[in-house]
Amino acid sequence: MRQERPANAMRNTHLLVNGFDYVRTPSLPEALAALAERPEAKILAGGTNLLVDMKLENERPARVIDITPLAALAGIEATSDGIRLGALTRIRSLAVDQGLWKERTALAEAAESFGSTQVATMGTLGGNIANGSPASDTVPTLVVFGAEAVIAGPGGERRVLVADLLDGPGTVALEPGELITAVLLPTASGRGTIGSAFLKLSRVTADLAKVSVAVRLVRDGDRIVDTRIALGSVGPTVIRAKRASAMLSGGPFSEDVILDAARIAAEEISPIDDVRSTAAYRRRAAVALVHDALCVAWKRAKQGVPAMPRGKAVAPLRRDLRPIRLAADETATIELAVNDETIELDVAPNELLLNVLRERLELTGTKYGCGIGECGACTVWVDGAPVLGCLLLAVSADGADVRTIEGLTAPDGTLHPIQQAFIDKNAFQCGYCTPGMLMMTAKLLEEIPAPTEAEIRDYLKGNHCRCTGYASIVRAVESLADRRCDGGAKAKRGGDRDASAV
Ligand SMILES: Cc1cc2nc3c(=O)[nH]c(=O)nc-3n(C[C@H](O)[C@H](O)[C@H](O)COP(=O)(O)OP(=O)(O)OC[C@H]3O[C@@H](n4cnc5c(N)ncnc54)[C@H](O)[C@@H]3O)c2cc1C
Ligand code: FES
Ligand code: FES
Repeated sequence: MRQERPANAMRNTHLLVNGFDYVRTPSLPEALAALAERPEAKILAGGTNLLVDMKLENERPARVIDITPLAALAGIEATSDGIRLGALTRIRSLAVDQGLWKERTALAEAAESFGSTQVATMGTLGGNIANGSPASDTVPTLVVFGAEAVIAGPGGERRVLVADLLDGPGTVALEPGELITAVLLPTASGRGTIGSAFLKLSRVTADLAKVSVAVRLVRDGDRIVDTRIALGSVGPTVIRAKRASAMLSGGPFSEDVILDAARIAAEEISPIDDVRSTAAYRRRAAVALVHDALCVAWKRAKQGVPAMPRGKAVAPLRRDLRPIRLAADETATIELAVNDETIELDVAPNELLLNVLRERLELTGTKYGCGIGECGACTVWVDGAPVLGCLLLAVSADGADVRTIEGLTAPDGTLHPIQQAFIDKNAFQCGYCTPGMLMMTAKLLEEIPAPTEAEIRDYLKGNHCRCTGYASIVRAVESLADRRCDGGAKAKRGGDRDASAV
């Protein structure tokens, strides 16, 4: 007899308990054909929503279509009429793109605000839209920029405003068999200069928004030519504050006017009480956030944009990925280069890289913590990028170069300087989070050789430590940056020494 699960029971976040067919293809027509065969199949991009939902059994797709080999769907490109963002562009790449910071600041800011560096490295723009969450950070900014989604499907290609795709919590208006291939950000024309801003209020830095606000404003002298305001996490979808925008557009800018507009915007939302906040708090916070975002956008329209965060875009796919098609009860032989050793093994579609590393290759340095992307204990490098082993299908990693904490130590057992720094600065107690912290620290120092404390805390925000506290961890990382700064000079933003010195 089937046992019903009690409503408050924990799901198994360690495993993907249900089976599914797996299709991976480097060809868009083949991906669409695989989708047409089973329109209820799920597209897999970064997997940071889908695999969490599958682990929690909120989703039980019969087929998963892995589109990550579609390299043509990734990238940021300036076109004659705007900017084209491939659907597979990683969120982190948006956060560190100079052109976006300059031209579409609010979108880059939204990407920068993402919950963790690893999630932003894995997560894609297309996934952030298609997931349909009212808390999706990029969506309010896409709405205020008038972005269009390019959609491919059985009927060919169509374009639709991102605002018109928003259907309700967890759904978007895609027809069966369709997928998003790109997002187009149109170039603005007309009088005035543009400023934009994205502000997010969350419980802690590494979290989804309680309330978020995106503003795009056109300024001409002391007048507002046009304003668009959109809010996240305050209704079933991202909501446009149309009355507030209309009230501002065409009038003078003043403290009283923007406060009135912010109050009107707060009347246009429909927040609820949930685990992250209460409806009443959200409504009050919305007033402050809309007010502040309008101020920031107004200033930027005159003074220009803030300094871009330092860091590197996620490298484009270098692997020549072969197509794979597997039934749920079949296995594929995959090849991985793990810590410089080539390994072949048979995996089923629902095996995770973390489980393969720990249980089949006995590389137990990589830890299982939460299983749903929140703690960073399972961080490994795949093709040089820091990713979460608990949210990556082993079969998706076929052909990849994988490095684990065991590969950070030299073959003769000499500790990596980062490991030594953690010992010297007492940067661990139980050590459970330490492998993830070390793998992230190494990537941080590769991207930003002399990080500031704020940069260290931001880069490591997806790595949770439950017993040491963060002060000594930050000190350990700073000590490495200091060494590269000629004998202990404090690391400064803009430091440009070679990471290989670590
Ligand atoms: C710990 C954690 C922190 C997070 N923090 C944030 C945050 O701060 N802000 C935020 O906005 N989100 C956050 N997220 C949610 C998630 O990371 C983002 O929504 C991400 O952009 C999803 O992209 P993905 O490529 O991983 O999507 P996937 O998980 O691969 O897919 C998500 C959904 O979209 C569908 N899909 C994916 N790509 C396409 C496509 N091209 N066409 C059609 N359908 C498609 C999939 O079938 C699935 O239903 C967080 C998630 C985790 C686990
Ligand atoms: S176990 Fe992967 S993030 Fe926690
Ligand atoms: S050292 Fe124990 S969890 Fe970080």
